[in-house]
Amino acid sequence: MQSLGLKYPIFQGGMAWVANGHLAAAVSEAGGLGIIGSGHAPADVVEHEIHTAKSLTDKPFGVNVMLLSPHVQEVIDVIVREKVAVVTTGAGNPSEYIERLKGAGSKVIPVVPSVGLARIMERVGVDAVIAEGMESGGHIGKMTTMALVPQVIDAVSIPVIAAGGIGDGRGVAAALMLGAAGVQMGTRFLSATECDIHPNYKKAVLKAKDIDTLVTGDYLGHPARVLKNKMSRAYLVAEKAAAQAGQDDFAELEELGNGSLRRAVQTGDSETGSFMAGEIAGMVKQEMSCADILTSTVAQAKACLQQGPALL
Ligand SMILES: Cc1cc2nc3c(=O)[nH]c(=O)nc-3n(C[C@H](O)[C@H](O)[C@H](O)COP(=O)(O)O)c2cc1C
Repeated sequence: MQSLGLKYPIFQGGMAWVANGHLAAAVSEAGGLGIIGSGHAPADVVEHEIHTAKSLTDKPFGVNVMLLSPHVQEVIDVIVREKVAVVTTGAGNPSEYIERLKGAGSKVIPVVPSVGLARIMERVGVDAVIAEGMESGGHIGKMTTMALVPQVIDAVSIPVIAAGGIGDGRGVAAALMLGAAGVQMGTRFLSATECDIHPNYKKAVLKAKDIDTLVTGDYLGHPARVLKNKMSRAYLVAEKAAAQAGQDDFAELEELGNGSLRRAVQTGDSETGSFMAGEIAGMVKQEMSCADILTSTVAQAKACLQQGPALL
């Protein structure tokens, strides 16, 4: 964390369609690490967001690369050219890109859902890992943050960032006590003033209760946590029917899901949009600037950590 020169050990998770250069710059400018979510965007779109972030901050920021993107090669080319400080990766193994990224001065930090993958990532030479539990919004693994993070920390000697279900200073303090070097929050930043998602999406996050998320895509092998709405309920019904029929052709389900996060972000349509968010949404009650999110979170974490010795 220190080598990144951050004021606070808090990453804003790269979120496809959501985390643009504007949000990433606001988080970095406020002392955390903002991360642009490149999703399946073409390289010129990613380049534009990097330029936006650079125009708004001279602090380090990151880009999240979805390794399954059809544009991954060109996106890596842009990142190397732009010398982005941090590259987080999702959905796969970034080993073939590590040498080039490190050559350009980038720190490579993959998201991992298990100890096994964390070990493989350490072996191929990444700088740190983000251990993400299934409480989180977006695509998820099988383990909870509380169980996953300490096991990953015990298994590797590189820094481990905790993600999933962390929404305020209590969560940050808990993650640091588990041995994490820092945290990554996604859902909390959906409510940020600088987060440019459709107002309906933001309102749905602010209104959500603890039990208002569900997981779609399990049957397809791509589970994702989203808010309950017309779209996600309809998807789950279709998925259960496909599972009961033992279907192995997923074309219809994929058609239903295609573009649904984009629709949520751009049109706020709850009939066809997937409002990805984590379980911690139930605790996110107020729209705040990134600077206020970071300073209040850090103040609360410090207060929690100071109380520590008196608790036992
Ligand atoms: C709307 C949304 C989109 C996301 N998209 C991505 C993504 O493109 N790549 C990725 O690695 N993680 C993605 N994530 C996961 C976040 O980067 C982060 O790890 C996660 O949100 C942390 O858990 P939390 O939601 O409980 O804070 C996404 C999360 C959300 C809520």
